[in-house]
Amino acid sequence: MTEAPALGGMRLSRRTVLASGMSAVLAGCTEGEAEPETVPGPPLYDRPRHLVAAVFRGGGIGAEAVAAAAAAVGESFERDGFDASGLSLSTGLGPRPVAAVDDRLPGAERLPEFTREDLSPETRDGDALLLAGADDAVLPAMAVSAFAEALDVEPAWTQRGFSSPRNLMGFHDGTENPESREELDDDVWISEPGGLAGTTIAVVRRLRIDLRRWNELPVEEQERAVGRRRHDGRPLSGADIDLAAKRPDGEYEIPALSHVRRSHPLAAGAGRMLRRGYGYDNGPEDRGLLFISFQNSLRTFTATQRRMDKGDAMMEYTTATASGSFLMLPTDDAGRTTVPAVLERR
Ligand code: HEM
Repeated sequence: MTEAPALGGMRLSRRTVLASGMSAVLAGCTEGEAEPETVPGPPLYDRPRHLVAAVFRGGGIGAEAVAAAAAAVGESFERDGFDASGLSLSTGLGPRPVAAVDDRLPGAERLPEFTREDLSPETRDGDALLLAGADDAVLPAMAVSAFAEALDVEPAWTQRGFSSPRNLMGFHDGTENPESREELDDDVWISEPGGLAGTTIAVVRRLRIDLRRWNELPVEEQERAVGRRRHDGRPLSGADIDLAAKRPDGEYEIPALSHVRRSHPLAAGAGRMLRRGYGYDNGPEDRGLLFISFQNSLRTFTATQRRMDKGDAMMEYTTATASGSFLMLPTDDAGRTTVPAVLERR
């Protein structure tokens, strides 16, 4: 069986996450719940407080090189006497190296262009992704250095993020997510046969938010742009999201152009994604959300984003300044990144 790497100081396999009822990731699971069949699982993020995303680009990058670089991070921590038990490492492979093995594999497809993007060749796509998280702020940065050294490539871009229940726009974020085992099996883990069952596709986008303009809006207008109340995250339709609920004047309770409606799987005609957003602050001109989502099909993301591109009152305040999709690599019982046979370069 393959397992997710250590998260927040504990080594959590998908089984142990499910069995222990770890609330942050899988709130639907309760103590003592029967363990699932042994399904391999790549990283499912709990919420380490600090996270660095690093994207690498280079002709020599393939699954084996990424797995070796991940192993080298552990070795360097050991060599330098740092405790790696609080470090959570996840790695992914970009569309180019995946397609070089087989262009029919999930993960071989690139993200299309979307509106409100300010991307350069450096910040669009990438060949390898490292997500390094820990509650200690120093460990992820050290992991990125060790990984880059082992890969022998400097990152094309990196972004440090912080976890918080409310994002920089002031709203609760990450409320509506697939959480139960069934939901994750349906929408997050790749389940088709073909050697990649139990992996997932990550989309990582750095989304700059024009907070100056946003903060000038009255709270009621912000709430109509999001579709939820600001102070407690409650949907504007009441206790639950009800897209059909209308006000006496005939307008939808959750406004037609609100983010909650536009991104909703039913409205977007897409599957669900597991979102793990991190705030970031690169100074007053560049603050926003390091958006990370996991889904079993790239289409889940593209269909959702396309619908938002056609009108989303909240997203009008955002610009993507870095973006890529990655097939996440699984890890084994000991937390080592492994290379599924289908990704081995022939
Ligand atoms: C700066 C960018 C963004 C911000 C600040 C943001 C914020 C939010 C907030 C506050 C919610 C409501 C609370 C919750 O359910 O978590 C939400 C929901 C959601 N967002 Fe975003 N979001 C951003 C970008 C995106 C992007 C790029 C996507 C995908 C393409 C996305 C997909 C979703 C989905 C699927 C939901 C849940 C909808 C539902 O089922 O109710 N968001 N987002």
